[in-house]
Amino acid sequence: MNFDFTEEQQMIQAAARDFALNEIAPVAAKFDESGEFPLENIRKMGELGLMGIEVPESYGGSGLDTIGYVLAMIEISAADAAHGTIMSVNNSLFCNGILKYGSEEQKRKFVHAIASGEHIGAYALTEPQSGSDASTMKSRAVLADDGSHYVINARKSWITSGPHARYLVLFASTNPEAGARGITAFLIDTEQEGFSRGKTEPKLGIRASATCEVELADYRCPVEHRLGDEGQGFKIAMSVLDAGRIGIAAQAVGIAQAAYDASLSYARDRKAFGREIGSFQMIQQKLADMKTRLEAARLLTLRAAWAKKQAETTGARITVDGSMAKLFASEAAMWISHQAVQLHGGMGYSKEMPVERYFRDAKITEIYEGTSEIQRMVIARAETGLR
Ligand code: CAA
Repeated sequence: MNFDFTEEQQMIQAAARDFALNEIAPVAAKFDESGEFPLENIRKMGELGLMGIEVPESYGGSGLDTIGYVLAMIEISAADAAHGTIMSVNNSLFCNGILKYGSEEQKRKFVHAIASGEHIGAYALTEPQSGSDASTMKSRAVLADDGSHYVINARKSWITSGPHARYLVLFASTNPEAGARGITAFLIDTEQEGFSRGKTEPKLGIRASATCEVELADYRCPVEHRLGDEGQGFKIAMSVLDAGRIGIAAQAVGIAQAAYDASLSYARDRKAFGREIGSFQMIQQKLADMKTRLEAARLLTLRAAWAKKQAETTGARITVDGSMAKLFASEAAMWISHQAVQLHGGMGYSKEMPVERYFRDAKITEIYEGTSEIQRMVIARAETGLR
């Protein structure tokens, strides 16, 4: 067992930390308040290689591993979770699936554009009536008689980065009778006719990451933009989420780290009853429990990243590793940021301090890319072999 990071992993961590401290932290509260999308920063992050960390350099990425991705995600999310959300969708939900299942032409066109930071990507699985039960989607894709393209009619909701995305990985059924086995994945160009955007969600947290509904009406998708085979879409969606959940776990660790750091500093400085509040046992107990949960979440997340790296050669499924990391880290982030607000007293409830933002941002990590309830179901099904 070796807990040391490689030189390359340390370099991407340092680059992300530097950008987070200098370019993100100073503007995080402003973007949270306005809900404006941080387009300029996202472009710069692309130039730094942060939008395609695991993408080979030949497709515009950094050519690093999942551990490097996790380390960078923690740094970015500690400065602002909304930047972390946009980064995770581009890296995990968009690039990952195309790298694994896409053709050479798809990698050159779609992965390169997102990994290099030229454009923004999104992942469209959820529908208004199907969230956790993703396989019950109503979106339909019908192959044209001449076999040259699919006609897609779809309504997708909660599309992270949707308002700014140029390309989407979108899932629709090509064979409704076949259920999950009838779902197919497509690569969608949002500038093409038949694509439109609906309402933007007014969110509690990660407010600078824009989220909207999208609609496809008789959208013509060329067959060469189908990702994988017909009927393979649900497996693609799930295996992309296996990797995506490791990124959300890393985002949660970043938020938890920021909440802990703010609390430690406040406990050392703030005085009550004539001494630093950090000398009171009730505050010490909070800090000790926060730190322990933070480090446990970090280790489980890095272990899942390590498992994904091993799986590249063994072909093993990493579903449970990703689910356990996301489940534990997201609940740790929620608990730690809750303690942070309490420890700060009235100041924790004020927008003058960042902890109320960490508290609002932490909540989404327990919901998106599969709720905590879904993660528990996935883990228990795998452990028991029962459904
Ligand atoms: N990898 C590969 N294949 C998988 C898989 C995985 N992780 N999970 C399931 N499959 C396969 C199964 O083996 C099965 O294949 P066969 O038919 O060949 O046997 C098929 O998929 C269907 O599997 P299930 O019967 O287990 O499917 P289910 O309908 O019971 O659903 C579920 C399983 C775990 C509940 C799944 O629907 C799920 O994860 N739901 C949550 C969806 C989710 O996370 N949504 C988030 C939206 S994206 C988002 O939030 C992004 C964002 O904005 C940032």
